[in-house]
This record gives sequence, structure tokens and C-alpha cells, in this order.
Amino acid sequence: MTQDELKKKVAEAALDYVKGVSILGVGTGSTVNHFIDLLADLKGDIEGAVSSSINSSERLKKIGIPVLELNDAGDLDVYIDGADEVNPAFQMIKGGGAALTREKIIAGASRKFVCIVDQSKYVDVLGKFPLPVEVIPMARSYVAREIVKLGGQPQWREGCVTDNGGQILDVYNLSIVNPPELERTLNNIPGVITVGIFALRPADVVLLGSETGVRTLKP
Ligand code: 5RP
Repeated sequence: MTQDELKKKVAEAALDYVKGVSILGVGTGSTVNHFIDLLADLKGDIEGAVSSSINSSERLKKIGIPVLELNDAGDLDVYIDGADEVNPAFQMIKGGGAALTREKIIAGASRKFVCIVDQSKYVDVLGKFPLPVEVIPMARSYVAREIVKLGGQPQWREGCVTDNGGQILDVYNLSIVNPPELERTLNNIPGVITVGIFALRPADVVLLGSETGVRTLKP
């Protein structure tokens, strides 16, 4: 099975978590795109979705699912999103698709975070995938220097402007042995909008797509 087929399989499995949910949180990325496409069949049951990116919003609208503002929707029952890496504590690296800030907001506002990934994303220690950090543009070089002091090698994702007008630094070679601590440390650098470590609010359920089927991991 190709990686994309595995992504589709976990997206299908995530449908079980939206039954009976009227407003759901929807993330961003190729795995979530499969999930959105599958939502078309359930659209009569869904009042609307809060989306973590312009891309996902457009895809949702195309299939007739209203996109709601989080400010109007309040807390959500469930949030479905992918990840770039996830560890056994369900802590994640996210932001490969540059939507990390809105993703973190919706994850925080959701009672259940269902993370949908293919097995290649499941790792013992986070950090092989370069860590995305969204920054205020004027702070980019300063934040990069501070990250170097912490042992990381930041690289500007040139040409990428986030939905919030931010820029992205992808940080290589960070040893993320204590994800919550590093999340806090990086969050505290002035100019950082969001760090792509999702450890202070990890996932609640991980659906892992593998050749042998979809495994449901619970803490
Ligand atoms: C976007 C994300 C995505 O969840 C992450 O990049 C995974 O993407 P994909 O499903 O395409 O592999 O964090 O900011």
C-alpha cells in the first residue's frame, strides 16, 4: 500500500469519531483532505466545521459543509487532524503544512483530539522531522539566533506566508527529549507565534494506518 492509501484508510477510520457530532474541528494536510472528502457523505448530519486553514475551509465549502468561526462555535467535541510525527505519549510535531497556529488553537478548544497518521509518522523520540516554528516576520532572524543558542539549526521556509501573515523557521537537529519543556522554552522567545511541538496539549487518540489495518492507540 502506498503512503497515500494508508492516509486514506486512517481518514476513513476517523469517521467513527464524528458520528453524532454537530460541529467538528478539522485540521490541515493531505490526510485531512481525504477525511474532508469522505465527510461529503455525512454532510446532512453536520451543522458545520471549524477549520485550521484557508485550504481546508475551501475544501469543506466545496462539499457543502459550512465553515464556522471558533468564536461563534465555542468549545468543540472533537478535532480531527494529522501530524508530522507522533510519539507514544501522543505528543506531536505539526506544522509541515504551515497551519500550526490555528491547529493549536482548535486542539486547545476541543475536548477530544483524534490524530490520524500513517505508521511512518510514529516515532519514539520527536525531532527527526524539522520542527516548524511560526514567527512574526520582523523577529525571524532574532528568533533564529535564539534557537541556535539552544542547539537547533533553523532554516527559513522562504516564500511561505502563513494564513496569519507569519513566517516559518524549520529547525533541524534539535534533540526533543522533553517535549513540554522545549515547547514552553521556544514559546517564550519574543516573536514566536507558535511552536510546532504539540505536547502541552497532546492527542487523545491516535489512529495509525499500517499495512495490516488501522490501529487505534489510546493512552
Ligand atoms: C499541517 C500539519 C499536518 O497535519 C501535517 O503536516 C501532516 O500533513 P499530511 O497529512 O499531509 O502528512 O501539521 O500544518
